[in-house]
Amino acid sequence: MASLLHDLLVGTLDRDGGVTLQRQLYQAIQAAILQRRLPVNHKLPSTRALAEQLLVSRLTVSLAYDRLLDEGYLYARPGSGTFVADTLPQVKTGVPAPDTPDQAPLSARGKAINARFGAVARAEGAFVGGVSDADLFPFHIWKRLHNRYLSKRQAHLAGYVDQGGYRPLCEALSAYLYAARAVRCSPAQVIVTQGTHQSLDLVAKLLGDPGDTVWVESPCHWGAPVVFSAAGLHCAPLAIDAQGACLPSAVPAAAPRLAFVTPSHQYPTGNIMSLQRRRDWLAYAQANNLWVVEDDYDSEFRYDIEPMPSLQGLGGEERVIYLGTFSKVMFPGLRLSYLVVPEGLAEAFGKGLIQLYRPGYLSIQAAMADFIQEGHFARHIRKMRAEYAQRRSCLQQCLDEAFGALIGYSAGQAGLHLAVRIGAPGTARKMLAQAPAHGLVLRGGYSVEPDADDDNLLVLGYGGVKVGEIEAAVQRLRRLYDQVAAGPAPAPVV
Ligand SMILES: Cc1ncc(COP(=O)(O)O)c(C=O)c1O
Repeated sequence: MASLLHDLLVGTLDRDGGVTLQRQLYQAIQAAILQRRLPVNHKLPSTRALAEQLLVSRLTVSLAYDRLLDEGYLYARPGSGTFVADTLPQVKTGVPAPDTPDQAPLSARGKAINARFGAVARAEGAFVGGVSDADLFPFHIWKRLHNRYLSKRQAHLAGYVDQGGYRPLCEALSAYLYAARAVRCSPAQVIVTQGTHQSLDLVAKLLGDPGDTVWVESPCHWGAPVVFSAAGLHCAPLAIDAQGACLPSAVPAAAPRLAFVTPSHQYPTGNIMSLQRRRDWLAYAQANNLWVVEDDYDSEFRYDIEPMPSLQGLGGEERVIYLGTFSKVMFPGLRLSYLVVPEGLAEAFGKGLIQLYRPGYLSIQAAMADFIQEGHFARHIRKMRAEYAQRRSCLQQCLDEAFGALIGYSAGQAGLHLAVRIGAPGTARKMLAQAPAHGLVLRGGYSVEPDADDDNLLVLGYGGVKVGEIEAAVQRLRRLYDQVAAGPAPAPVV
């Protein structure tokens, strides 16, 4: 039976030319993947079937597949076959790809937005970074609550948001954040957004002007520099040490208006900001009219002791913009996040939200309010905290056994990922490119400056991998490490 790959390749092989069939095959499949003519996760025909369809030797096909597997264009699932990988390799290929951002007719800003594409589409698997386990989410309860608000009687919730968010949700959040994070705010200071990217965009546009500088922790969540730069801000990196984001020793001539930090669990290193450092940041912000953007994205998951109060709750009501998200506790596709802004900014942020995004989703916000008020939220957090703590210690134990002193990882007992320092400089970057061939999803490249050398940092998320799957995944990681450490295999000659 012919396959999509056969249809793409038929008639393209030049049997009399100077280029080997194996190389032609490799280049043609590589181009089809880069140009997305072969979709992500598409299953390729077996080497035997493709060899028969194309009338070439099976060895020719095997060697072409092997090279594509090594370079991360394909991944193999033992017993199931060979598939198109969902992470394009980071090597430059020279293959013309007419729809790449470089060639698309975009503005300079559009090109910059595309250049550092950072999202991983996978929601589960070893070791997708920072995802929650939606398998364990009580969808039956969520469905019942949401259904309450999907009726003609509730038709008023089918309209636009007319303030910072649905008022009962803002009330539930202000009570929850005070109890859990010591955040002090009235419901009017809570602004509900559709994800942290939107929260950052709102902050950047309402508190910064194009050309202003924002200090950003480096390394950091890939989205922050993308959103800030797209809003016209210049991102200046903040170093991280064991106490969290460092206060800069030198202040640029045009003093920054904003600083973006993750004190509860620095993303991605995992460091937890010390109390003294928090006080230093607050004092600096107060003295210099700096807005501190505190992203408290996964503080619900602390496994050893009670988390430290938020920066906002430590006396930062006037200078801190507090950010939270439901992605980690609920599920990321919900697209529900929030900001708490100082009292004097509340009305302007409510208006800004409406001016820029014209938000809706009131029925979802209403269901979320009930989910919190009826106790489901607290119950789900407790259940998932125990589950993730178990996964984290299992992952740590497996890493210790498999790698010993070859790796070091973040100490903070918190969150949904471990940040691992691995091997000599360059090791992690090579592992990223080859991970799909080992059935792994890895991420790196978190520096604010695109060319900075953070390339022995890997993020291993455990939200998308069950305890029973961790050991085998760590063994695959060790094989990948050994393969990279052994250096490139000699190019096959056919
Ligand atoms: C530092 C940080 N903040 C926030 C988020 C959540 O983003 P969102 O609310 O857009 O899902 C993430 C997700 O991984 C993150 O790493």
